[in-house]
Formats: sequence, C-alpha cells, structure tokens
Amino acid sequence: MGKEEAAAVESSTVVLAVNGKRYEAAGVDPSTSLLEFLRTQTPVRGGCGACVVLISKYDQATDEVTEYSASSCLTLLHSVDRCSVITSEGIGNTKDGYHPVQKRLAGFHASHCGFCTPGMCMSIFSTLVKADKAAGRPNPQAGFSKLTTSEAEKAVSGNLCRCTGYRPIVDACKSFASDVDLEDLGLNCFWKKGAEPAEVSKLPGYNSGAICTFPEFLKSEIKSALKQADDVPIAVSNDGWYHPKSIEELHRLFDSNWFDENSVKIVASNTGSGVYKDQDLYDKYIDIKGIPELSVINIGLP
Ligand code: FES
Repeated sequence: MGKEEAAAVESSTVVLAVNGKRYEAAGVDPSTSLLEFLRTQTPVRGGCGACVVLISKYDQATDEVTEYSASSCLTLLHSVDRCSVITSEGIGNTKDGYHPVQKRLAGFHASHCGFCTPGMCMSIFSTLVKADKAAGRPNPQAGFSKLTTSEAEKAVSGNLCRCTGYRPIVDACKSFASDVDLEDLGLNCFWKKGAEPAEVSKLPGYNSGAICTFPEFLKSEIKSALKQADDVPIAVSNDGWYHPKSIEELHRLFDSNWFDENSVKIVASNTGSGVYKDQDLYDKYIDIKGIPELSVINIGLP
C-alpha cells in the first residue's frame, strides 16, 4: 500500500495537574519521562523507591474519573496529557500533616530505611481509592475502606522492599479493610497486642473522599479542548507524539509518510523501557492506549 499524504501537524502542549496544581509543557521531547518532568519542573522530587504516583483520567462521555498507580520513571510525559498526577507529597507531608496511610505505615513499623516507603504509600492509597469506587459493596464503618483483606495482600505486589519485610507493610494496608480482624495484625503502636481488644478509635481514621484526585479546572479544560478537536480528524503533534483513537486511525498513520518503522516506537504503558534502554533510538512515538480494541483482554473464543 502506498504512503498517503502526511498527517496534519499540530502544535502540542502537554497539560497536567500535579498535586492539584496546573502545569504546562510545550515542545517536550517524546522520550521525556513523567519522573524527569516532576523532578525538574515541579517542587516534588521522587526517584527510585518513590517514583510511584497516582494517575487519574477523566472521561467526558461518562463524566467519570478512573485512577491507577504507575511508576513515573517508566511513564512518558506525553501519555499523561490532560491527566491528574498525585505524588506521595500530595497525599500528606510535614507541612500539611500526614495522610492516614502514611501514619499507619509508621505506626505498624512498616518503614525501616524508608527507601521504599513513599512508593508503598502510593500503591496502598491507589488500592484504597479503587476499592472505594467498587460497585455493590456496603459502606464500611467510619475510618475504614471498602477494601478487602485479600485485596490488601496484593496492593504492594508491584513494589520492592529490601529491609522491612512485607508483613508489617501488608498489616498497615490490611488495617483499612472492612473485613479485617484487627487482632490478627502484627506489632504496632496503636495498641498492645493481646493486652486488650484492638481499639479502632486509636487508628488514624481514613476518609475516602478527603483527597480530590481530579481537579475541576482540568475537567473544564478537557471539555472545551474536545469540542475543538472534533474538527481535526487526524493530527500528529510536532513533538513526534501521536495517539490514535481507533484501529482505522492507526492504519492511516502507518500509511502516512510520517511513519518510519526505524524511528517510531509503539507504546502502551512504556514498561518495556524498564528492560530495554532504547529511548535514544526513537524520535517518534505512537501511544495505542486510546484504542479501545487494544486495551482489553478477551478470554475464550469469540
Ligand atoms: Fe528499606 Fe523498604 S524500608 S527498602
């Protein structure tokens, strides 16, 4: 199939919220990671062990926000355009006070060197946010989450700790679960094990709605930007970043003279860059996460 005319070229500015504050980045190299942006353009630092962030996306069609945790060192900045990012400083810090997740990790002696702790906080926080949005679960008692203990056991499965050991970390996470037996949990500073019934009132209380994961100003921007985008059927950012919304659009891109298989990298979450250090080989990226058919897993025969 012959090459079609080049796709329209548009100027690209990445807009995102970091801990509720608006940031813009224009003309950014498409291989720039979210971590690099956070460390150089915002007051937060992150780094190995503390790179986990909560990313929230807004769907204007359903008026819903979905959240997931991700390693900012693997996430490309362009892929979080129009997203909200929350770091461990955003849920609690020395100035504004600590979040119950941070307090309970400390209280359950779940931090030894502290290297992994901010990442653990964000993975637990992300699990709580998702559990509290799960449909059909009864409301938990005050201070707890809709999280289950079996979900709590998997919450930090993507995080590594070299020195604390996982038991106290998982205990801290389990302490939020609605079906937890607090007396099964390990050593902690909230009550003495075996001395008395574990006292719920001594745990730092959790309020699921206390942290806004997606600011209103960004929702408004998305709504107005989408109206304008309706007039642009195919467009390539002049930063070398492209995010097709359908298989047809992806094929049109392959057939355009913009496409060159030697310099284009196709990415979804870019986790491969944790293994293959090949960022320098590419100056154009196609993000396929916006294509619904390529974002689902169908089990069984059609
Ligand atoms: Fe040291 Fe987890 S507390 S790596």
